[in-house]
Amino acid sequence: MDSIVVTGGAKLHGQIPIAGAKNACLTLMPATLLSDEPLTLTNAPRLSDIKTMTTLLQSLGAEVTTMQDGQVIAMSSHALNNHTADYDIVRKMRASILVLGPMLARDGHAVVSLPGGCAIGARPVDLHLKALEAMGAELELKDGYVHATAKGGLKGGTVEFPFVSVGATENALMAATLAKGTTVIKNAAREPEIVDLAHCLRKMGAQIEGEGTSTLTIQGVDRLHGATHPVVIDRIELGTYMLAPAITGGTVELLGGRIDLIGAFCEKLDAAGISVEETDAGLKITRKNGRVNAVDVATEPFPGFPTDLQAQMMALLCTADGTSVLEEKIFENRFMHAPELMRMGAQIDVHGGTATVTGVERLKGAPVMATDLRASVSLILAGLAAEGETVVNRVYHLDRGYERVEEKLGACGAKIERIQAA
Ligand code: UD1
Repeated sequence: MDSIVVTGGAKLHGQIPIAGAKNACLTLMPATLLSDEPLTLTNAPRLSDIKTMTTLLQSLGAEVTTMQDGQVIAMSSHALNNHTADYDIVRKMRASILVLGPMLARDGHAVVSLPGGCAIGARPVDLHLKALEAMGAELELKDGYVHATAKGGLKGGTVEFPFVSVGATENALMAATLAKGTTVIKNAAREPEIVDLAHCLRKMGAQIEGEGTSTLTIQGVDRLHGATHPVVIDRIELGTYMLAPAITGGTVELLGGRIDLIGAFCEKLDAAGISVEETDAGLKITRKNGRVNAVDVATEPFPGFPTDLQAQMMALLCTADGTSVLEEKIFENRFMHAPELMRMGAQIDVHGGTATVTGVERLKGAPVMATDLRASVSLILAGLAAEGETVVNRVYHLDRGYERVEEKLGACGAKIERIQAA
């Protein structure tokens, strides 16, 4: 398995282009299953999770072609010939469950393996299933698979989520576009990736109101048609690279960066003493001299502080002046990066969903292990600021969600290289 070696200490200066959002692309791709006409995505990120979704869609009979070095994905589902999403593909990526709603909505039946994905908690799919049941689906769990049928098609209904789920909102939204009648989704997720999905579905002929709010109203239509859609930028990649100069010192401009996608995070950077400036091309981040201030952070659904930036923020706060409290309110087991950061000299106390971080003057390089996608990049960020060499092992998680990390950080002066496994 590849590893990434980071030699800390270099201040970063330069520009980093931000790619299309992994999480948006992973829900836009299954939308192809809703129509027999082509759906083309531009500004797609080049990531292994996208390849996994490609393989999954192809296994169902969809045609998927990538162009322009992977940044354009042309899909057509005119000849779906398999309605079973197999365990061997689904276990690699939890977002695979997003093929369930579209397949069921279009053809009235679907079989999907229960997913795997990052090891950051139990992460069941009960909300996805309840939403589809509210639209008339009959579901049976057998041998690790969900068998879903909707004889005569799905029917509009009221879906009320007990708490916010991004994936369940996406599955319900896609399914509702082809259900007969009106569907109302209450307590819907408001993430920019949902807004992007709604925009794409509308281009395909769907009738949706309320994206970006907690109530979505969908008037079902008989069929959807083809469309071309640019994937929204990746706010998590953006936040991650905003933290790079925040940790090392220096100034970096994030091309394509937008504050409206990441407002709560920017407020915390401001409180930490990091300057965020809007430019014509994106956002410019500058760390003023001296240590950053300690800040308290609690993760929340959008527009709150994203759970997907909690690990990276912790890396910053490890060297803050004072004590910060990080509260993880979305996933119950998402502090696996803490013991790895402690191997680098960080002082962190984890109790349940709360981590108390007492800043130290400087971290020290060490061999560490990536445990999940965002944890792995937090260790790279910590390594950029640490004294000496940090070797991050098991970086396959990183490749699921960050394209060309070494190139992007290296272009700004970071000393970072990938060691290919023998
Ligand atoms: C998506 C993102 C992920 C991000 C998360 C929260 C994708 C591909 N992934 O994941 O990067 O960290 O949103 O912003 O877009 N839950 C249930 N039952 C369900 C569904 C979820 O109990 O049926 C729980 C989860 O265990 C979790 C919480 O709800 O505790 C929120 O999860 P959810 O918003 O669904 O996350 P994902 O869509 O899986």
